[in-house]
Amino acid sequence: MIVQPLTVLDHHHQELRNNGEDVIQGLSQTPKTLSPKYFYDDHGSQLFEKICELPEYYPTRIEAWILQQYADEIAEITRCCELIELGSGSSTKTQIILDAYQKITDFCRYLPIDVSGKILKTSVLELQEKYPDFAIHGLLGTYEQALFHLGSNYLQSRMLFFLGSSLGNFNAEGCDSFLDQVSRTLQPGDYFLLGVDLQKPKDILEAAYNDSQEVTADFNLNVLSHLNWRFQGNFDISLFRHQAIYNEVDNQMEMYLHCEKNHYVSLELLDLQVLFTNGESIMTEISRKFDLATMEKQLDKKGLKTLKSWTDEKGWFGLILCQVE
Ligand code: AVJ
Repeated sequence: MIVQPLTVLDHHHQELRNNGEDVIQGLSQTPKTLSPKYFYDDHGSQLFEKICELPEYYPTRIEAWILQQYADEIAEITRCCELIELGSGSSTKTQIILDAYQKITDFCRYLPIDVSGKILKTSVLELQEKYPDFAIHGLLGTYEQALFHLGSNYLQSRMLFFLGSSLGNFNAEGCDSFLDQVSRTLQPGDYFLLGVDLQKPKDILEAAYNDSQEVTADFNLNVLSHLNWRFQGNFDISLFRHQAIYNEVDNQMEMYLHCEKNHYVSLELLDLQVLFTNGESIMTEISRKFDLATMEKQLDKKGLKTLKSWTDEKGWFGLILCQVE
């Protein structure tokens, strides 16, 4: 029997289908923006894995350290049948949780969800070998598609995790409605495990997003190659430059692609022609930096009660375990 490792989430809910509406919108406004989900084509996901190993990029290492310290405790508290991860990527950190679960239970289901098919498929196959007693099944799709799917496919006792501070990619309003959706999708008693990057000095943050090997620059520029491929575009990557700055007013890292020449770009499949002028930029990502206590209060307002939270000694990264009321 061949077990399909992936399910492609592709329902026909109008606004959730990727027809590039968001790209048309984002490139037609001033200043121009793009959704960070476009970072993650196969190559982009590979570049992100490289970012996670950079000496300057502390979040992955610190979050993994926190998980290593407390995964047994998390497993002991939660004891769920279904572990679901949004934006799972390589699922490297997840293995710390799966290891802890393996100590306390014979069986559980792990559902990694990601927009990047290659890395998802590879990690599902790898994990299935490492954890033969667990049922592992990947869901290929966006957060919105995933939450929609999960809403109508409930088995029993879930822990949803959202690691790496991906929550920071939403602006305040987007974050609010995302948490609403999480809380509505889960059932009372279910758990939500959230990793958040915390506020810290500007120089440390800016170094993490302007690494000396320029992997982050490649990662940022790759969004344009992805659009070229997906929408038959003709972006010339050499006309753009990576920039990442910390906005201390809004407590967020901001990534831009800075245009260095007046020119037109077309995206054939979107029937779109866009003028770029020398000096303007596309905002490709915000990465908000949180305050742990404030985040706990916000979760609480959504009916997500914090049971416990953990940080490292420097207080650079936070992990929050909450339960749905
Ligand atoms: C995956 C969104 C958590 O914001 O730090 C890394 C992505 N961007 N370097 C982050 C990212 C530039 C990352 N997240």
